[in-house]
Amino acid sequence: MVTEALVREKLSEVIYPGFTKSIVDFGFVKEIGVSGDSVKIVVDISSSAPEVKEQLHDEIVKKMQLIKVANLDLEIKTPKLPKESSSKGKNIAPHIKNFVMVSSGKGGVGKSTTTTNLAIALAMQGKKVGLLDADIYGPNIPRMMGIEEEQPEVVGNKVKPLLSHGVEVISMGNLMEPGQSLIWRGSMIMKAITQLLQDILWSELDLLVIDMPPGTGDAQLTLAQSVPVTAGVCVTTPQKVALDDTARSLDMFKKLHIPIAGIVENMSGFICPDNGKEYDIFGKGTTKPLAETFGCDILGEIPIEPAIREGGDKGKPIVFHEPDSVTAKRYLESADKLWKFIEKINEEGGVDNEAIQPTTPPGVSACSTGGHH
Ligand SMILES: Nc1ncnc2c1ncn2[C@@H]1O[C@H](COP(=O)(O)OP(=O)(O)O)[C@@H](O)[C@H]1O
Ligand SMILES: [Mg+2]
Repeated sequence: MVTEALVREKLSEVIYPGFTKSIVDFGFVKEIGVSGDSVKIVVDISSSAPEVKEQLHDEIVKKMQLIKVANLDLEIKTPKLPKESSSKGKNIAPHIKNFVMVSSGKGGVGKSTTTTNLAIALAMQGKKVGLLDADIYGPNIPRMMGIEEEQPEVVGNKVKPLLSHGVEVISMGNLMEPGQSLIWRGSMIMKAITQLLQDILWSELDLLVIDMPPGTGDAQLTLAQSVPVTAGVCVTTPQKVALDDTARSLDMFKKLHIPIAGIVENMSGFICPDNGKEYDIFGKGTTKPLAETFGCDILGEIPIEPAIREGGDKGKPIVFHEPDSVTAKRYLESADKLWKFIEKINEEGGVDNEAIQPTTPPGVSACSTGGHH
């Protein structure tokens, strides 16, 4: 006999695509109605991607067949599609609606950690997200996402991104031999960035979040010339000595005509795991005047937290694995601010990278190479 409990039990075997939890665990099952061998199910999912809906539909139908449901009335509700990008100019990956460039003045400030957690947060909020690790000098996203050992599948002469924590991911780290170090010349950087956009089989994404090499060099210029970058995010730490680098990063966004979504102040205060108190270590709030100068927002202040580092080392990003922590909430809030900024930019007509194409007179592309190799 079909009962509500039995239906629920079967639904708890349906894993939400790209995640490890079921649609029941996520709280997506909104209604179960049983009368005789007729069953009505309402599921409300957070993804607007048609393939997610299709996959869930097929799996639920199969599960219900197993328990001999004769009439299934299945409704899968999805959020309405996010606004289209209204950007113009050159886009070598036109099926991706928005591009987010994450930069920092120097290495070690938590750029990759922030990028990873922001990308996952956006996916948790129902966006179709890709994460591109374009840090050719130190690609460490695979470790942080827990996919270090995985090899992406090659289809013809293209590469399929890996899927982790609800996010499509590809990294230079997946494409280079382990331990291989390259001396990158400008033309090689251009080629690498172009391939990461063109030769990867990204789905129709709402946004692609890109972890850039630190500094303001060829990679940034090439990216901005290849696709219209909707938003720039600058990650920094609050020490006064970091502010000059941060200013250079923000100035680069301006030169590249990239709208600045804001600054993430990372390692901002320390929440002691023993007593939950917040201590000031590197300072806090020092980036505010800089944000005012550049007319941008502080997207978030992320504290120093051992769990953030551990999550990165173990491939278990905190925003996903401890979503109720203070830090996870800050990442989720930052992601929300970032998305609202992207929507605003698109409402105002989007971005146009025409002005920074290689044919423009010198001066516009006068970004220094940040002293790399
Ligand atoms: N808020 C934080 N609290 C604790 N550790 C952090 C935090 N942000 C980053 N880390 C750690 O600092 C190190 C450098 O971070 P990473 O994201 O790799 O920096 P970047 O990409 O800028 O070089 C990593 O070990 C990371 O886990
Ligand atoms: Mg990094």
